[in-house]
Amino acid sequence: MILQLLINNVLQDIEALPGESLLKVLRRAGYFGVKHGCETGECGACAVLLDGKPVNTCVYLAAQAEGHDIQTIESVGQHPELGWKASRGLHPLQQAFVETGAIQCGYCTPAMILAAQELLGRVPDPSEDQVREALSGVLCRCTGYLKPVQAVLRAAAVLRGEAVDPVDGSGSPLPEWLPGDPISPEQVGDPSIYEGPETLPPAADVLARTQVMPQIRVVPEARTWERVGKPEPKVDAIKLVQGKPAFAADIEKRGMLVAKVLHSPHAHARIQRIDASRAREMEGVAAVLTHHDIPRVVFSTAGQSDPIPGPLDSFSLDNKVRFVGDRVAFVAAETEEIAEKALELIEVEYELLPVLLDPTQAMQPDAPRLHDPA
Ligand code: FES
Ligand code: FES
Repeated sequence: MILQLLINNVLQDIEALPGESLLKVLRRAGYFGVKHGCETGECGACAVLLDGKPVNTCVYLAAQAEGHDIQTIESVGQHPELGWKASRGLHPLQQAFVETGAIQCGYCTPAMILAAQELLGRVPDPSEDQVREALSGVLCRCTGYLKPVQAVLRAAAVLRGEAVDPVDGSGSPLPEWLPGDPISPEQVGDPSIYEGPETLPPAADVLARTQVMPQIRVVPEARTWERVGKPEPKVDAIKLVQGKPAFAADIEKRGMLVAKVLHSPHAHARIQRIDASRAREMEGVAAVLTHHDIPRVVFSTAGQSDPIPGPLDSFSLDNKVRFVGDRVAFVAAETEEIAEKALELIEVEYELLPVLLDPTQAMQPDAPRLHDPA
């Protein structure tokens, strides 16, 4: 069916399947600033402003959006070019997110900025609590919330026309250091010698200040360094704050296959039989892999390089599953729908094994082995 959607003030005819979410339709139309997260309405990464209010698009039907005003992060800022290239003209909110270091991976950033925009539209001078409340629908797994809250309060001040301190450490000068000023071995680690006069902000806004540099003096030479000990904008902050394609899910190539994983429903079980023949026969399925199809190479999930201190405890696919959600089979197909259908056609018989939920139990000599020798 064809929907008429008003996206970022442009009325567009967009094709959609009945029952398709607004998230899928917007991303397919190239609005990659609408991030694909949990798909269950919990994380908030997919939020847009619908008639000015934040709405999680993964749990909102595209068809319901007809006749409504949809604003995505691509509408924020003065020059919101689509594409990877950084563009100028950031909105004060985007600018403040960059300046305060409120972006780590940046996956939650577009939704946070939209939520903040909605707040500042109705409350120009919000309290910290109001900012926290406004951002509470967007989960951030890496930056946390302090920096985004600082960013929103900073942007609010800018939008009100107030002067804000530069976020470059210059607002909190280091105490004067005199050459030859000794630090005795006993003083190393004593906080009082590192603290400057402005270390303690007023209690009322202790969390909200955009004073980014703690009063730490490592060595006297640090004052002459250009970069070390000073805040720097993240190299990809501009593109992230504009919601541009930056993540694996944002990559689209012609003819690209979609991969899906069949996950274990059991915490500990041996795969007695696995039959993927029906899935392989399905039209549009390019490949189905089970543990019979790939070498059994053990690796560590800890992620260090060689020599690996972490335990060698994982296989891409194995004849055993060790937690709920462990990998059982992989499917590559032409579309997500075909891949999901193919997963349903894989037959698996499990032999359930004892489950250990207590580390002391797991350390007993007779505890079940994590993995069998090949
Ligand atoms: S992807 Fe929509 S709330 Fe998580
Ligand atoms: S989820 Fe990574 S910056 Fe928020």
